[in-house]
Amino acid sequence: MKKLNLDKGGAPRQEADAREGTITTAQGTPISDDQNSLTAGPRGPVLLEDQIMREKIFHFDHERIPERVVHARGYGVHGHFELTRAIPEFSCADIFQREGEKTPVFTRFSTVAGSKGSPDVARDVRGFAVKFYTNEGNWDLVGNNMPVFFIQDAMKFPDLVHSVKPAPDRAFPQAQSAHDNFWDFISLSPEAVHMTLWTMSDRAIPRSLRFMEGFGVHTFRLVNSEGKSHFVKFHWKPKQGLQSVVWNEALKINGADPDFHRRDMWNAIDAGDYPQWDLGIQVFDDEFADEFEFDILDATKLIPEEQVPVQIIGTMTLDNNVDNFFAETEQVAFCTQNIVRGIDFTDDPLLQGRNFSYLDTQTKRLGGPNFTHIPINAPKCPVHHFQQDGHMAMRNPKGRANYEPNSWDEDGGPRENPEIGFASYSERVQGGKQRTRSETFADHYSQARQFWISQTATEQNHIAAAYTFELSKCQHERIRLRMLSHLMNVHDDLAESVAKGLGVSDLPDAAKPARKPITDLPASDALSILKN
Ligand code: HEM
Repeated sequence: MKKLNLDKGGAPRQEADAREGTITTAQGTPISDDQNSLTAGPRGPVLLEDQIMREKIFHFDHERIPERVVHARGYGVHGHFELTRAIPEFSCADIFQREGEKTPVFTRFSTVAGSKGSPDVARDVRGFAVKFYTNEGNWDLVGNNMPVFFIQDAMKFPDLVHSVKPAPDRAFPQAQSAHDNFWDFISLSPEAVHMTLWTMSDRAIPRSLRFMEGFGVHTFRLVNSEGKSHFVKFHWKPKQGLQSVVWNEALKINGADPDFHRRDMWNAIDAGDYPQWDLGIQVFDDEFADEFEFDILDATKLIPEEQVPVQIIGTMTLDNNVDNFFAETEQVAFCTQNIVRGIDFTDDPLLQGRNFSYLDTQTKRLGGPNFTHIPINAPKCPVHHFQQDGHMAMRNPKGRANYEPNSWDEDGGPRENPEIGFASYSERVQGGKQRTRSETFADHYSQARQFWISQTATEQNHIAAAYTFELSKCQHERIRLRMLSHLMNVHDDLAESVAKGLGVSDLPDAAKPARKPITDLPASDALSILKN
């Protein structure tokens, strides 16, 4: 039997068999003339009969698929993850068991707000999404290059994204920068203040995709073979180090080369200069979670590395550019709900909403329920199930049975297996149905302040300059003042510097915090708030 010639994404390479090199129609018919339509006489009308011209143009007409609703601009690279420290004590996931073992990965970096054709060095969060093709199914770690997020509850995500995308009437601006709607929304959502410190920092204008950190952001769970759970935060640490450009450079680069980041990545890998990231975990137990000053389910908060050190467990190496951008980078579908045995969710309301959103949007973007059959999304381990049919079905059940339980011995198809199957961590839950935000999510300023204080004087200047630049583009004074009233809760130096830059001489009253910053409360009070 002829061995299939597969590309990096796992798809059969397009070949015309013995006629290799001859251009064909999609049906495989060799084409004799690909330059001229079929006409009646040399100058006569084009004949409707021309199936070759019609097929060619029909296919071209259908080339575009919807761009991602966020993270539309991205760049994907193949590589592998090598485990350097097995962690069976924390997780029974197969990928974490054997030191030295390599697992293939596909990683897509992205900006969030811009459209597919937007410039690379926009001031924005960067997506950092990794698909691990493990022996027990695909695990997607769909993170960002910042450890926190703008909002605490997925319910607010459509509003956040609407506010950051071009305004519906005028269709500008393209970027997060200089946006009345964005700053209007943020200034009315104090939970976002911490994240804006990060997005106004140098982290939001990385020098290259190779010089960024990555974060899983949410608290997840690791579960070991005895069913014991630990909480975990995932980190990617670039071996290249962390580097950014300054704002003036970003503006010039975007003008001169809007493809700056993707070109840099392609060239580095083409030249054999493979970027690497260490995968780190912060692991903690229920007791730490109960005593920590903030709620571990709140994605606007991080866990300081001084309190829970990051333990390195492996390294990702990106060493292979794609064969085809569309087939791989565009069609890849990351999803937070893709986890494997030994990893589990927590009740973070942002994470829970994401678990719904990705599959839903990808079903539309990739044209139906069978996008896991596309080679870049297909697991590299055996897949057996009774899902069938639908558009583009390429992996229907074989044989008689397409349901279970069934009593067909030989032809009965796959069976469930409690020994190796995924089992959700048996977390105890309680409470009435309600739509209130937990009181433990209420401190929006303390970590923003800690971030500001942790920055060097130069970095602080960059942050203040970025707020000043952004807010100076806001047409409405009330938005600028509202934002200043939040910055006053972060740090006087920051608020005063931005106010000066904006020409505001009378600072507004500080925004009234939803609750006294928890770090200002006596430890016993803070604890009782967190526990109740
Ligand atoms: C896409 C990260 C919050 C909905 C993405 C991508 C990343 C990402 C990295 C790009 C994936 C790719 O390269 O294909 C994050 C992080 C979040 C967050 C780190 C917060 C911690 C949310 C929330 C929602 C959401 C709350 C919705 C409730 C989406 C959607 C896409 C997307 C719809 C497009 C997916 C596609 O079309 O393939 N996100 N996201 N995200 N995200 Fe998020």
